[in-house]
Amino acid sequence: MSSAFLYRDGGLSAGPVPLAEVAAAVGTPAFVYSADAILARYRAMTGALAAEGLDATVCYAVKANPHLAVVRTLACEGAGADVVSEGELLRARTAGVPGERIVFAGVGKTEAEMAAGLEAGILQFNVESEVELQTLDRVARDKGVRAPVSLRINPDVDARTHAKITTGTAENKFGIDHAQAGAIARQAADLPGIDLTGLAVHIGSQLVDLAPYALAFEKVAQLFGELRGGGLPLRRLDLGGGIGISYRDEQPPAVADYARVAAKAVGHLGVPVIFEPGRWMVGDAGLLLTRVIFVKRGVKKSFVIVDAAMNDLIRPTLYDAWHDILPVAKPAPDAPAQAVDIVGPICESGDLFATDRALPPVEPGDLLAICSAGAYGATMASTYNSRLPAPEVLVAGADWAVIKARPDHATLLRQESLPAWLAPEADLGAEAEVDRQSDRQESMHAGSRAAS
Ligand code: LLP
Repeated sequence: MSSAFLYRDGGLSAGPVPLAEVAAAVGTPAFVYSADAILARYRAMTGALAAEGLDATVCYAVKANPHLAVVRTLACEGAGADVVSEGELLRARTAGVPGERIVFAGVGKTEAEMAAGLEAGILQFNVESEVELQTLDRVARDKGVRAPVSLRINPDVDARTHAKITTGTAENKFGIDHAQAGAIARQAADLPGIDLTGLAVHIGSQLVDLAPYALAFEKVAQLFGELRGGGLPLRRLDLGGGIGISYRDEQPPAVADYARVAAKAVGHLGVPVIFEPGRWMVGDAGLLLTRVIFVKRGVKKSFVIVDAAMNDLIRPTLYDAWHDILPVAKPAPDAPAQAVDIVGPICESGDLFATDRALPPVEPGDLLAICSAGAYGATMASTYNSRLPAPEVLVAGADWAVIKARPDHATLLRQESLPAWLAPEADLGAEAEVDRQSDRQESMHAGSRAAS
């Protein structure tokens, strides 16, 4: 985990802000992000790339953590954005990322999304197939503009990461086959609605080994040189994202080494280079705060049942991902660690955060921090089991703010409606029913406040 979260005066803190104070104010579960940690990463990456002499633009992969405040934190430093949907495009624009620093990636852009990208005047579309190229050409011509396009090449390199987040092998749905790239690039250069700007590559996520990067970058650089030598006006390269973080004991590359590998492979081409990091920028800068509900001692196992669940952070069950889990109150150095399963309250065995995890003794009411949850956490959350979305908090220096409040049940119920034939009574609309429920909830809360 990043040094953004450390024990201070006996409790885990985000900089000077005690996490217990945040939990008391906003309740649990709650995501907490450190703006300082995000900025430190951004500056480290841009610094390392500049030190290698690369003319680099870091386009933050919004999918990792799309919160407006997170994107804006980076936009204020000059970051661009890598977006994969109209929603992400709108977020990036709302957060202040100028169109000319936005890359639109994704294997299945709709015509409406293509049009939105063109209207926003984005830097480039990363195009992944011949049919996408032809569709974009038509959409651009209809608008009387030319779409800037970089072709995403599938270099057929195994990133040696989790199968669900490997994208650069011939078996994956992503990118244009290396062997077909030349023909499609020549076709792109001839299409009136297309401005062929360059090539792009992205081989996967959570890469902790530099060798696949070196191979993929070299393959793309070679192709770039060949196509440019053949007269195509290529002028930009996009080297994707994917640099990993240490969830457990992985040893991801130092950013300086990553920059060196990139520079060695593509520096000689002398063109601007785009990078699209997501996880590396925000993963360690966030955690999920949760409170222990029960400790259940079974015959074979002990379970620590917490108030966060798989709907809040799905990575452990979806990818068998390891996230460090720390007590917020600093345990005594001699506290005996016990192996427990740390699980959520959802009715599925897959609702778990850790199995057989060594944890100092905890009791109901204790706070735990599930670490490295800044990337692919809140953004992959759902309301499964009708659980309320966890609030999000941003800490900057000694300040902190709620950047997304926990909605109440009435607000979520109001997003649904009953068709006429199911409306309960003629004079009682869904609206009134929700209001009645919300009154009931309010009186329940008032009751529990009075009881406590
Ligand atoms: N560029 C492209 C084209 C991508 O597909 C991705 C991620 C990125 C950049 C950013 O990759 P990053 O730097 O964050 O590794 N939900 C999964 C990760 C999915 C990544 C998908 N693509 C997880 O929780 O591990």
